[in-house]
Amino acid sequence: MSKQILILPGDGIGPEIMAEAVKVLELANDKFQLGFSLSHDVIGGAAIDKHGVPLADETLERARKADAVLLGAVGGPKWDKLERDIRPERGLLKIRSQLGLFANLRPAILYPQLADASSLKPEIVSGLDILIVRELTGGIYFGAPRGTRELEGGERQSYDTLPYSESEIRRIARVGFDMARVRGKKLCSVDKANVLASSQLWREIVEEVAKDYPDVELSHMYVDNAAMQLVRAPKQFDVMVTDNMFGDILSDEASMLTGSIGMLPSASLDANNKGMYEPCHGSAPDIAGQGIANPLATILSVSMMLRYSFNQQAAAEAIENAVSLVLDQGLRTGDIWSAGCSKVGTQEMGDAVVAALRNL
Ligand code: IPM
Ligand code: MG
Repeated sequence: MSKQILILPGDGIGPEIMAEAVKVLELANDKFQLGFSLSHDVIGGAAIDKHGVPLADETLERARKADAVLLGAVGGPKWDKLERDIRPERGLLKIRSQLGLFANLRPAILYPQLADASSLKPEIVSGLDILIVRELTGGIYFGAPRGTRELEGGERQSYDTLPYSESEIRRIARVGFDMARVRGKKLCSVDKANVLASSQLWREIVEEVAKDYPDVELSHMYVDNAAMQLVRAPKQFDVMVTDNMFGDILSDEASMLTGSIGMLPSASLDANNKGMYEPCHGSAPDIAGQGIANPLATILSVSMMLRYSFNQQAAAEAIENAVSLVLDQGLRTGDIWSAGCSKVGTQEMGDAVVAALRNL
């Protein structure tokens, strides 16, 4: 039976970058005879416009049945005034949580060709290869109670809750250790255990799990220090494991080390490695429709999909090599452009990756 892949382009630059990623995926499908069958649906603002909700039940059902999901990005000013519960972002959070995609892998790798595009000095970032493992279905993103209440005197007060259970911490810690084991064997757990109860339990459980991984060197770091160390000496890190919100923030920060957030792919996996794959960046409404967005993060997300959900290492590597070749040719979208390179648009970049992959 063919493998089903559900494509959810989303909003803003989502459809533009997805069109390029789909070209690459279709070519890989032919070239490596992967037997994939692709179908499309809507999520986020596009789903609000079509169904009145950011994730329709039938879309969720199709995602459940699919072997993997490829997502662009959601959100935009058109839907910003909607109530929190029906905003485009809710669709994304719902699909993550309903599919049980608790492990979010966000690799920050500096392509040597882009050392000049980083805002940090080349010697600080050259050779950078960090993997951020972000817990994705718990913590403050989903904690209850949350809301707004009226205090005595009529003033409003809003609140969120940051809960983590032992089992939630244990399973994400295991992913962190497993990843570290097959990489540089160093895991840094990031928390705020000097202040937060949830972080104290986090640290305790991570220590417990560490007993099963004597070959991995574990360290702990407070999130404020981790944010600083990422720009001071990022190469000290191999794998970082952290909670949902800290991971959201640190992965954006780490992306800039690599030149642009437009380069960062991600994989969100469930307990059986079923996954949803998406770029770490958002829908960038400011540049949507202009054909200038960088499609490489989405193209690299396709490569992560081949690697993690389908164990197609050769095809995954071929896509990564094609991206590298295109960078060698000096092609750059605006976000990674530096003097001496040729500035190209979204489609030209996608076409160049396709051409490189075809010739590999
Ligand atoms: C991300 C995004 C999302 C998140 C938003 C769009 C809800 O920032 O994937 O990092 O906060 O998780
Ligand atoms: Mg984010």
